Amino acid sequence: MKTVAVLGLGYVGFPLVELLVKGGKYNVIGLDISKEKIERARENLKSPRFIATGDFKRIKDADISVVCVPTPVYENFKPDYGPVASACKSIVANLKHGQLVIIESTINPGTCEEVVMPVFEKYGLLGGRDFLLAHCPERIDPGNKKWTLINIPRNVGGLDEESAAEAAKFYRSFLQAEVKVLSCLKAAEATKIIENTFRDINIAYVNELAMSFDTLGIDLPEVIDGAKTKPFAFMAHYPGIGVGGHCIPVDPYYLIERAQSSGFTHKFLKRARAVNNGMPAYTVSLLEKELQQIGKKLRGTKVGLLGLAYKKDIGDLRESPALQVLKILRRKNAKVTAFDPYIPGMSDVKSAPELMKKCDAIILATAHSKFIKITPQQMKNAGVKIIIDGRNCLLKEEILAAGIIYKGIGH
Ligand SMILES: NC(=O)c1ccc[n+]([C@@H]2O[C@H](COP(=O)([O-])OP(=O)(O)OC[C@H]3O[C@@H](n4cnc5c(N)ncnc54)[C@H](O)[C@@H]3O)[C@@H](O)[C@H]2O)c1
Repeated sequence: MKTVAVLGLGYVGFPLVELLVKGGKYNVIGLDISKEKIERARENLKSPRFIATGDFKRIKDADISVVCVPTPVYENFKPDYGPVASACKSIVANLKHGQLVIIESTINPGTCEEVVMPVFEKYGLLGGRDFLLAHCPERIDPGNKKWTLINIPRNVGGLDEESAAEAAKFYRSFLQAEVKVLSCLKAAEATKIIENTFRDINIAYVNELAMSFDTLGIDLPEVIDGAKTKPFAFMAHYPGIGVGGHCIPVDPYYLIERAQSSGFTHKFLKRARAVNNGMPAYTVSLLEKELQQIGKKLRGTKVGLLGLAYKKDIGDLRESPALQVLKILRRKNAKVTAFDPYIPGMSDVKSAPELMKKCDAIILATAHSKFIKITPQQMKNAGVKIIIDGRNCLLKEEILAAGIIYKGIGH
């Protein structure tokens, strides 16, 4: 039985480990630099075919190493390849001759050649001779029940034909999905970046439309639902308080930066980033406008922020636009109470009803299922006067009928 080492036991690495172990075809070594992640993996997955460890020497036992470490951006939005380079160093130091190294982390076109291979070459190791190298970008969508790791199709690119073929064979051995082999590493790297940038641009488009339609008095969600009846060439995206998560708001910067260093300026991508980054401030401005209508100012108003996570029904705070909304509200001296059932550590109260009782105005920042269930009557009884629905997920007509001021994003 072959052995796979998975480096990084986070959102991407651990589900991969689970699938490999449960599939029964591989022994798996889960590696991480975080003791907490190792401990969590040990607790959540017990199998004689699995160990979680911080001992990177165990890579020597592996036939395949899969790198699933983070690829964040610095404050100036430049990619930070530190974790990828450091994971590769661990592999180099413990490489079993002929090992297949696969990078799953999201990386820029060119990164395997410009960042990964030099780490190996520094120690005299040559790709294709001493090890095989492939890139297979991860596409997991946390919280998505229909499309999970096992059935999401994958793209693979290799340093050479053998690397690509071996990587494709590996993924086909445990996925129930198409595995497409692309011509080179760069092509595979670029797929992931354009997928996420596509989403960022489309969301920026509807966010800009929301701001425009708010001035024109047109209901954007209704228009989108009309437009999406076209069976081809239109894909519905919806406006909101901004874009969050580890991927969509980060990956476009990778391409923007990489192209810039080769002499091309991505004006369109930059613009999309700016529009989406501006949505938290726009959301707060909607509240200010509604307060003005009733002769109030944001300063000193008791505002409840429902949701901190970037996405519904998960507790992930990374790049969450809700955090920006919180920051702006505080900067403008609103009296803010925040609550997220998935992030108790950052919540000021223990429940949404408790929050509503304390606040005159609410900004809903995350469409958690629990929030959608709150009835307009409950809001009214708690004394809420204004709702800014940052996810257009509440019952607008019923809230208005209950005598509460309602404003969504373009809605
Ligand atoms: N989270 C997602 O939805 C998602 C989806 C697709 C792709 N990706 C990409 O996958 C990659 C991993 O993302 P994630 O969400 O799993 O990140 P994560 O932060 O949840 O997990 C990464 C793990 O890697 C560990 N780590 C850091 N440096 C290490 C090293 N040198 N050696 C071993 N372990 C190390 C960290 O301790 C952490 O546990 C990123 O490139 C990300 O862009 C993420």
